[in-house]
Parts: sequence; structure tokens; C-alpha cells
Amino acid sequence: MDLRTKYEAAKTTLGTHNQQHLLNFWQRLDENQQKSLIEQINDLDLEKIDRWIKDVVKNPEPLEVPTEFDPAPYYPALPMPDMEQKYALALEKGRNLIREGKVAAFVVAGGQGTRLGFDGPKGDFPVTAVKNKTLFRLFAESIIAVSQKYNAAIPWYIMTSPLNHLDTVEIFKKNHYFGLNPADFFIFQQGTLPNFAFDGEILMADKDTIAQSPDGHGGSLRALYRSGAVEDMKKRGIEYISYFQIDNPLVKVIDPLFIGLHAINNAQMSSKALKKNSPTEKVGNFCLVNDRVTVIEYSDLPDEQANRINPDGSLVFELGSIAIHIINTDFVESLNKEGFSLPLHKAIKKIAHIDYEGNQVEPKEPNGVKLETFVFDALPLAEKSVIFETLREEEFAPVKNATGVDSAESSRQLQIARAAAWLELAGVKIPRKADGSLDCVIEIAPSFAVEKEEIVKNKNRLPKINPGDKVYID
Ligand code: UTP
Repeated sequence: MDLRTKYEAAKTTLGTHNQQHLLNFWQRLDENQQKSLIEQINDLDLEKIDRWIKDVVKNPEPLEVPTEFDPAPYYPALPMPDMEQKYALALEKGRNLIREGKVAAFVVAGGQGTRLGFDGPKGDFPVTAVKNKTLFRLFAESIIAVSQKYNAAIPWYIMTSPLNHLDTVEIFKKNHYFGLNPADFFIFQQGTLPNFAFDGEILMADKDTIAQSPDGHGGSLRALYRSGAVEDMKKRGIEYISYFQIDNPLVKVIDPLFIGLHAINNAQMSSKALKKNSPTEKVGNFCLVNDRVTVIEYSDLPDEQANRINPDGSLVFELGSIAIHIINTDFVESLNKEGFSLPLHKAIKKIAHIDYEGNQVEPKEPNGVKLETFVFDALPLAEKSVIFETLREEEFAPVKNATGVDSAESSRQLQIARAAAWLELAGVKIPRKADGSLDCVIEIAPSFAVEKEEIVKNKNRLPKINPGDKVYID
């Protein structure tokens, strides 16, 4: 089909879906711009988009919140005495799966990091307490350490978005993949969704460009498949995907016990959870809806439910989601083969665009809708799903904000506190000030230990720490 015919066809289709304004500037575009715009238009599924506009964009209450739900059962961080044997079995199982090369690491790194306000991919943000290692370097070193420990290749899959893909590739190239074998490194982009004005019109970012934004971390389940990552995993014999976010430096990138608990239960998608620090902490709540594990967002959990207390004083809905999952490669494949879809969450945002005259608009107030999918919405699609509790001080120190809660500084303090706790466990005396706070800065390299048990094993290599010391242990 020549360009003119393609244009006529697009014009007719857009007309039937009230989106003909996408071609408003056609006459002013050069041939390459016209080709690019036609491609973007042909990529839109306008039937689906019509439904999204009606059900989500223009709907004040787009998502149905379940009315009947129970708390979800879980494996506690430390086993009750009657479960010790099961945990030991699970640990052995997880270790074997890693040894057999059946586990891959997967980070979602396509976000825009608007709250942090860092210019560049968030993975390039320096986070560690002494060496200021970036998140990418820290995770790469952890993967290398686990891979050496188990004498097995652990490929690392990284999802970016069109907004940060090239920068991310460049960072890895420039840093020689942080010591990873490039053959064990697979980077791919997530999909995008168009941005809408409140009336449902798709916004234009420029005369030849539709305004689009990344489709949320839920987009990873489709992108893993479309990018060929799943195919690559199958070729390598990868059965389990260890999913984590780019912004939590304390995450155990590969956790044998979690993998083992997931595997011995024949689960398809499992989650780590934290005990919430208040009934309304801003994390998703693990619930059971129709017998399926389901995350209900904090904003959707009614206060009277959030505040419910068990006879022992604990919260009924005590578990929050921290976006750490094990996902089966087969599960991702079957979702895609069966044509799944995740619910669309809408965010009302300030969206830069051009108006009908082609003038650039930088809105001061929210002017439109962005759509996103969330990975935890796939949990109810799994027939079996395990929840494993982890401890906040061991595994959660997110870098979300520039200052205050969940900032680089709070994360750094939590990283130092965990390092100190690990060393204390091995009998090292940690200097403290009169008020009990730490009087030293410590960073433990992944090459030295990725788990506290390794610190105890390497006891005789640990340094003495004096008040005010800055210590890097590798
Ligand atoms: P956040 O929800 O914290 O979003 O992402 P963000 O974009 O990083 O930060 P803000 O909200 O703009 O400040 C949680 C995780 O999901 C990834 C992020 O990279 C982060 O690891 N993510 C988020 C994606 O990979 N793609 C997306 O479209 C959204």
C-alpha cells in the first residue's frame, strides 16, 4: 500500500472512532514523519481504545473493588516449630533449582522516577553507604555473587521503557556490564499506552507523535513474551523468574527459600510480603477473593477493614505487598498465548501535548489521563500463589523520594543498619552513640555476603570497627 492509500485508510478508521484529529498536521509533515505517524496509528487497537475510554478514561469509578474478601494465608518469615522441616526442604529445593540453572533475575526498570527527580534511569542512581554504588552495579554484583556461590549461570533480564532504554543500554556498555557475562544479559522495552484528554481524545505529543507513556510494571508480563525473553528463557531451561523493582537496594535478588516455597507448592506466581507498619500504610493488601490471592490497594481497602484486629492484637489485614515475586516462565507464556489482559488503572496527570493549532502546551493543572497496569493484578490469574513474609529491616529500603520517607538518605540508613545487624550476629562490636544510634558507616559488598549466614561463615575475615569509622567489607 502506498502512503497516500494508507493515509486514506487511517483517516476513515480514525473517523469512525472520533480520533481523526491525529492526522490534523499531515500536510505539514515530511514523508518520514508521515510514515512514522501512520505506523503509530496502525499500532493502536481502536476497538479496545473505545472500550477503555468508556470504561476507564471517562468513568469516574473505573475499577470494581471486591466487596467480599478475607486475609490471605502466608508463610511467616521464621517458621513455627512444626514447619521447620518444610522450610528446610524448601530451602534445599530452592538451592537445587539455582544450581541447576533454572532461575533468572528480572528487574523492572522502566519507570520515570518522577518523585526522585533524578535525571536518568533510576538504576544509575548511587545508593550504597560507602562506595556510592549505583542500583544497577549493586544488583549486578549480587547476581554475580549468587551465580558464583551456586556455580550456575543466572541470566539477568531488564525491562526498560522507550523513555530510558537507550540510556540504560549505554550505561551497561560503558560499565562493561558491571562484570556480568554479556551473554547472560537481556534487555528489552515495555509497551506504551496512549494518553487521553478527559473527553477521550488521544493527545498528540507533537505533530507527528502520539502522546504515549509506559504501560506500568504490569506491562512486563506482555513485554517478557513479545521481546523474546520468554523464548530465551525456555532455551536456557529457566523455569522461575525472580522479579524485583529497581529501587530497593536491600532486595534479595535471588532468594533460595522463597523460590523453594514457591516450587514445592507448585505455584505459578508468588509474592513476598511485609507486616504493615500501620493499618493504612500505603501498600497493597494481600487478600483472598474467591479463593485467589488478590492485592487490594490501600486506597480501596475500607478503613473499617484496614483497622480490624485479631484477638491477639495483630491486624487482620496485616500483609503489604513490596513487589517481589517469583513467576513461572510457563505462566507468562500461557497468559500470552491465551490472550490475557490486566485491569487498567488510571492516573490523572499533567500531560504535555500540542493543541489543534500545533502549539506546545505545558499544563499547570492536570489535563488528562494516563493508563497503567500493575503486575500484582496477575496474581488472581494464578491457580496457586504463595505468600512469604519477609522482614522490613532485612529486605525493604526503597528509594522513591528526593527527601524524607523512602528517600536515598533513609535507604542509606537502613542499608547501614542491616549491615550492622549482620555483623553483630557474627559477634562484631558495633560502635553506638549515647542515644543508641550507630556511630559508624558500613557497607558489605555482595561479593562478601548476600545473606547473613555468609557473614557468620566469614567471621574471621571481619574487621574491628571503631567509633566514626567508615568501613567497606569485601
Ligand atoms: P514506581 O511505581 O515507583 O514508579 O515503580 P516510578 O516511575 O519508578 O517512580 P515515580 O512514581 O515516577 O516516582 C515501581 C517499579 O516499577 C517500575 C519502576 O521502574 C520501578 O522499578 N516501572 C514502573 C516500570 O518498569 N514501568 C512502568 O511503566 C512503571
